[in-house]
Formats: sequence, structure tokens, C-alpha cells
Amino acid sequence: MPRAIISPSVLASDFGQLTAECKRMIKGGAEWLHMDVMDGHFVPNITMGAPILSCVSKGVPGIFMDCHMMVAQPEKWVNDIADAGGALYCFHIEATSDPVSLIHAIHERKMKAGVAISPDTPSTAITDEIGEYADMLLVMTVYPGRGGQKFLERCVPKVAELRARFPNKDIEVDGGVGPKTIDVCADAGSNVIVAGTAIFNAPQPEEVIALLKRTVET
Ligand code: DX5
Ligand code: ZN
Repeated sequence: MPRAIISPSVLASDFGQLTAECKRMIKGGAEWLHMDVMDGHFVPNITMGAPILSCVSKGVPGIFMDCHMMVAQPEKWVNDIADAGGALYCFHIEATSDPVSLIHAIHERKMKAGVAISPDTPSTAITDEIGEYADMLLVMTVYPGRGGQKFLERCVPKVAELRARFPNKDIEVDGGVGPKTIDVCADAGSNVIVAGTAIFNAPQPEEVIALLKRTVET
């Protein structure tokens, strides 16, 4: 299995201090920062887009922005997110009719490509071809749209199904993940862990980051 990576979701941070919050997480041991981009169409909420990500990448040198694109037309934002310093562009398979071409477009802009599946989408939506070209697969463990929701354990078997088919691929889980729910995610084979409220609301975020990482590694 690929190495463990913890990606705190800044959705749970103080947006007024976004760069400081990102630095705080990196200091606490986070390797990636999960940036939830919502457009008010694919999901009801609106969060942030390329202009804010661009400020973050300038303010936090070396940051790896794991951009979770909860947007209706993911083809539309590849260039803007690349120009803003995005390192990984993860789109929802439900939002596009041509995922393979989109993966190639993301790679052309030198970003890693991720493909996300929502709770009602089966793991078989990730075809062998998509799995071959994508760098990361994201199994949502809540309905996309907001932080702080309850973890949906019924999504976890999809992680195991994808891990069996793609032993060397990064597989991310996102939604309601924290110290109480990490065990099943790790057992199923996910190695990239997103956690928002569980990390940002903790009195000692670095301890939560370390615990999540340790659980995936052992
Ligand atoms: C939900 C987002 C998640 C969310 C995770 O739509 O994609 O990244 O911020 O937050 P928690 O960990 O609080 O569920
Ligand atoms: Zn997310």
C-alpha cells in the first residue's frame, strides 16, 4: 500500500486566517492541505475558488494543495486551479461525461488527477481505464457539501473494493473521519486521510494528525 498521508480539510478552519491555519497544520505534521471548492451548483454551498487558493499558495510556500472540486463543470477550472498553484485536482465522476479526457487535461497542467465518488456511486463507476490513469481515488464517506457530518460506514466497502483492484494507488477517504472512525478506513486500505472538524476542533491538532497517521501505517 502507498504511504500514509494526512490532509486536513481547511473547511473547518478559520477562513479569516487561512494561511496561518495552513501553516499551523503543516507545523503539526500535515503533508497535504485539503481545499474544498464548492460552486453552489454541484453542491448547494459556495466556499472558495482559484483566487483564494492563489493567495494561500503564495502565503504558504511549498504547500501541497489537495483540491477537492465539488463543481458542476470540472473541465472549466483546470487552468485556473493550476495557475493558482493546485497540486492535485480531484473531480467528481458524477459531474463529467468524459473522465479520461479530463484526467489527461489535468496532467497536461502538471497536477495530479483525482477522481471522487459520492456515497450513492458504486466503486464500479471507476473503470479500469480511469483507475489506470488517475493518481488518486476519493471515496466520500459523507454526502459532499459541508463539514461536520456523520461518517457513513456503508461507504467503506468501496474502499476495500478499489484497494483490491488498485493495490498501488492513493485512495483517499473524506467525510466524518477522525480518531473514532479511522480504524475501518485504514483496515479497508485507504492511505490518504482527510479530516476537518476532527483535526481543527481538537485542542492539540498535531496529536490527532499523528494518531491518524499511525493507524494507517500499522
Ligand atoms: C465535505 C467535504 C469534506 C469535509 C470534511 O463536502 O468534502 O472535505 O470538509 O469535514 P469533516 O472531516 O468535518 O467531515
Ligand atoms: Zn473534501
